[in-house]
Amino acid sequence: MPRDLESEKATLESLPSLSKESEGSSPQDPRPLYFRPTEVMAPKYKKMKDLHPYSLLLSSDDLDDCDWLEHAAFEPHEAATREKLDYRLHVCGELCTGIYTSSYATSPAPLGPLILSRTFPSTDSADSDRKKVLLGHIIATKHSAPLVTEESMDFPKDWREKYQMTPTTGHNEDGKTICLHSLGVHPSFQGRGLGKVLLEGWCQRMRDSGVGKRIALICHEKFIGFYESAGFKKVGESKCTYAGGGWFDMVLDFESAKQELDY
Ligand SMILES: CC(C)(COP(=O)(O)OP(=O)(O)OC[C@H]1O[C@@H](n2cnc3c(N)ncnc32)[C@H](O)[C@@H]1OP(=O)(O)O)[C@@H](O)C(=O)NCCC(=O)NCCS
Repeated sequence: MPRDLESEKATLESLPSLSKESEGSSPQDPRPLYFRPTEVMAPKYKKMKDLHPYSLLLSSDDLDDCDWLEHAAFEPHEAATREKLDYRLHVCGELCTGIYTSSYATSPAPLGPLILSRTFPSTDSADSDRKKVLLGHIIATKHSAPLVTEESMDFPKDWREKYQMTPTTGHNEDGKTICLHSLGVHPSFQGRGLGKVLLEGWCQRMRDSGVGKRIALICHEKFIGFYESAGFKKVGESKCTYAGGGWFDMVLDFESAKQELDY
């Protein structure tokens, strides 16, 4: 047996043997630990467990929800306008994702007053009372530059009349950089792991789908650690002056994740 397998075998042999009666079973709850899901669940999932979140691709049909969420999550000067969201959802909704929960307005837990705050779409036509509630979203486009630029954040104002596949402003279908413009979670549901789960699931989908070579974004200093924990690397101060500037470039490179980036 090779040396590393020898050491793994020794490690396995030193572990206690598996038993249906877990040592952790308490007199109050005689069930073995693995029948008690809240106790084995990772903390971030525990915090979101009542929400049963699920993800869906976004499209122009979701404009009202995304506009509402964007303006709830971001400061007014940072939020994308409804027109910009309309453009992005229309031309590249497949690069965008929403994280949802379902609820009935008549039995509002676990959403509380949020479910009554506006009209949400129904989950399906067979059960119109069951609402699909957007709790977070990611809105992205593609661009040819390796980092997020002012042009990538803008959009061609005549896109409805003169749609171009590869404009220099806005979404460029041939671009190799996926630009993450908005990651927002509704303020009432922040800090439960939704943002991280949404970001990591979306990054995995972007990587697996092969639609780009990297993901780039700009963020304020306080979010650098959040993005680093999802695998992004800080490139440096961004040249973007959007919403007053003060941004940092972050990149998740699919092809050279372990190499030094040179931008
Ligand atoms: C940033 C945002 C999407 C995070 O979503 P969230 O659901 O609240 O975050 P999570 O609960 O998944 O937190 C995941 C981790 O990030 C950390 N984190 C969350 N918000 C943070 C912040 N503002 N600063 C630093 N760390 C933060 C959490 O502590 C947590 O760490 P842990 O895994 O070690 O426990 C959310 O706070 C938000 O929508 N903010 C307003 C919009 C915004 O500014 N978006 C970022 C644009 S660059």
